[in-house]
Amino acid sequence: MELKQVTHIDNVRLSDDGRAVRILDQSLLPNETIYLELQTPEELYEAIATLRVRGAPAIGIFAGYALYVLALQAKTTSYADFLAECQKNRDYLNSSRPTAVNLRHMLDRVLAVVQSMPCADISAIQDAMGQMAKAIHEEDIAMCTAISEYGLSLVKAGDGILTHCNAGPLATSRYGTGLGPLFLAQERGIPLHAFCDETRPLLQGARLTAYELQRAGIDCTLICDNMASLVMKQGKINACFVGCDRVARNGDTANKIGTSGVAILAKHYGIPFYVLGPSSTIDFTCPDGDHIPIELRDGAEIKEKFFSKPSSLPEVKCYNPAFDVTDHELITAIVTEKGICYPPFAESFAKLFPGKGAKA
Ligand code: MRU
Repeated sequence: MELKQVTHIDNVRLSDDGRAVRILDQSLLPNETIYLELQTPEELYEAIATLRVRGAPAIGIFAGYALYVLALQAKTTSYADFLAECQKNRDYLNSSRPTAVNLRHMLDRVLAVVQSMPCADISAIQDAMGQMAKAIHEEDIAMCTAISEYGLSLVKAGDGILTHCNAGPLATSRYGTGLGPLFLAQERGIPLHAFCDETRPLLQGARLTAYELQRAGIDCTLICDNMASLVMKQGKINACFVGCDRVARNGDTANKIGTSGVAILAKHYGIPFYVLGPSSTIDFTCPDGDHIPIELRDGAEIKEKFFSKPSSLPEVKCYNPAFDVTDHELITAIVTEKGICYPPFAESFAKLFPGKGAKA
């Protein structure tokens, strides 16, 4: 198979005229490659809510651009009205999904630009918002690269890596987080083998992770979620690499539903379980996992979405939480752009991120 650089997937950016946000519609992958240009509040909200753009860092990058694009459409010349409109757009976009904290963090960074320029012209504020949105994107590229380097230092040639959901270039920028070490290893000729959980019910592992790895020529094998225990028992897995949507101050980590089950299995079989994510995914205001809001989604995703006929009777009730929280005691290390944090996480966060509100 031809070797391709997937680290440059063009998943989120401004449109060529700079007035819309352009995304690769992830909800259609791997069967269709469709790019969308989004401009209205409703289109931007819908793209997040329906996972056309998804993955905590990518949602954050998208949200920064979205707030800027909406600000360009403001008709007012009054600072107070402009600020109020930006705040309203911020609140609306922030309500599109509840778990990934990057959404709130990046919206607030772009809104803070507006709040910090009360005496400036609206056009100067708009320019500064655009620069902030681009800076957020650039930062994420650098953070993913650093995370991938640290992650790669945790494995050796020939290792088998279990992944859950998708934490690759589509969900971030460039290398990704949870998948970043695999892409770096590939570029350096270090052989690793990935086992991808398919990730019911929205199949991010099957549709997105396997797609990204396959395109890059990385050896990968797709498994159903309920096969993870067997492949671990068979000795095929040397480490688990997953991403994160919100990490609490004590290290409890929300990630795609099923992640905590993988961590429990890994502990049982004595396999290290690593969470990889940028510091923008750490919520220093959140003391522990009990305080992380968990998104509930439509049960039709379980029964109907990927089946030609419904898999269950219409009257059967469904419970469809999109995330779970992995207890910090199950996590071997949390890999950030500043370094690898080992337990106790509150202390290692405080050392790596002083002044961020982390309490040792
Ligand atoms: O519902 P999704 O597809 O947005 O969930 C994504 C995940 O759970 C990812 O693992 C997480 O956002 C990290 S992406 C680097």
